[in-house]
Amino acid sequence: MKPITEKERFTGQVFLPGSVVGILGGGQLGRMVVLEGRKMGYRFVTLDPAADCPGSQVADRHIAKAYDDPEGTEALAAAADVIAYEFENVSAEAVKRLERRVALPQGSRLLEVTQHRLREKEALVMGGLPVTPYRTVTGPEQAAAAAEELGFPCILKTATGGYDGKGQRLVRSPDEAMAGWAELAAGGREVILEQFVPFRKELSVVVARGIRGDIVSYPVAENVHRDHILHRTIVPAPIDEEIARRAEQLARDAAEHLEVVGLLAVELFLLEDGRLLINELAPRPHNSGHYTYDACATSQFEQFLRAICGLPLGSPRLLSPAVMVNVLGQHLPALMEKLPSLPPAVKVHLYGKREARPGRKMGHVTVLADANEAMEIMDQIGLWNR
Ligand SMILES: Nc1ncnc2c1ncn2[C@@H]1O[C@H](COP(=O)(O)OP(=O)(O)O)[C@@H](O)[C@H]1O
Ligand SMILES: [Mg+2]
Repeated sequence: MKPITEKERFTGQVFLPGSVVGILGGGQLGRMVVLEGRKMGYRFVTLDPAADCPGSQVADRHIAKAYDDPEGTEALAAAADVIAYEFENVSAEAVKRLERRVALPQGSRLLEVTQHRLREKEALVMGGLPVTPYRTVTGPEQAAAAAEELGFPCILKTATGGYDGKGQRLVRSPDEAMAGWAELAAGGREVILEQFVPFRKELSVVVARGIRGDIVSYPVAENVHRDHILHRTIVPAPIDEEIARRAEQLARDAAEHLEVVGLLAVELFLLEDGRLLINELAPRPHNSGHYTYDACATSQFEQFLRAICGLPLGSPRLLSPAVMVNVLGQHLPALMEKLPSLPPAVKVHLYGKREARPGRKMGHVTVLADANEAMEIMDQIGLWNR
């Protein structure tokens, strides 16, 4: 895989406050980038098919068009001085079109790599970075054979479009491998098979890298998932310092190898024997970095903008231990009920989504306390066990 070269990207430019930042995507990540950027004096235009999305509610201007709609991207290019993407499932073609016209410091190459599980793993392997053992699978018999090689259980994943565990099938037998492949590959999707990793913990590190290659990393976080959706993030992760150092180094190495500009979130599995494997990457603010909004000197959202706008990176210093818990649709009534009597250590963030469907990320709370104390507080709110 050809590494991203600095030349392929429109870099070297500084965009001072007052500039208009265009954001592809209007979800909660874009919303929090806008909220932080307004504080600094930036202006924002968002592009997202939903008119009343979390981003559009806080942006100066919103373009309600599909990400690959030529009129939409044209309007974004005309309005923005610099453009960023806030999630991976935007069309790489559209991003390529845009970066020919407007500064787009993250670049289309980083998007192409991170929006495709196979390309992402290949890029990491090229950089000498450890990944979960995997196979590409192109047919049912081959899926069964690959599963036998990797051992059971293993996990089939679509190469593109997956999030929050969507597009994944656990495989416990050759028959399940064949059936799972047929389901996921329907419509011509590429599929990969991964060994199931019996991890001790899931960790993540958010790294920021500026246009001059300067790099800072946030503290290592421990992530606990429920039903494949992030439930909570604990910072600092309760792990040995030596493991934390290695996790941070892997994340920095990945960001350097991919010549990231902006943010790179690196999800890791910590194995029983202390080894670390990279699970996946995200080239943007990450759910496991939401705690930085309240608990760090510079939030990941501000840092993202600083990197993209060519400003010096801010301090990632942790000001307080924190536990972040996602508020899903089913949690909202309990949270609303408790809101008037929440303890002062609890910071509430809601994303302005009107419809509270079960499993939908409606907001998050960050408890500025160590893990034990935070757990007690969360018990009181009733978010912990649902
Ligand atoms: N190979 C694996 N072994 C064990 N658990 C896995 C594996 N792949 C994914 N998981 C579990 O499923 C979660 C979601 O998978 P992931 O690949 O991160 O996809 P996404 O976050 O895009 O939905 C992971 O955080 C982890 O809990
Ligand atoms: Mg993940």
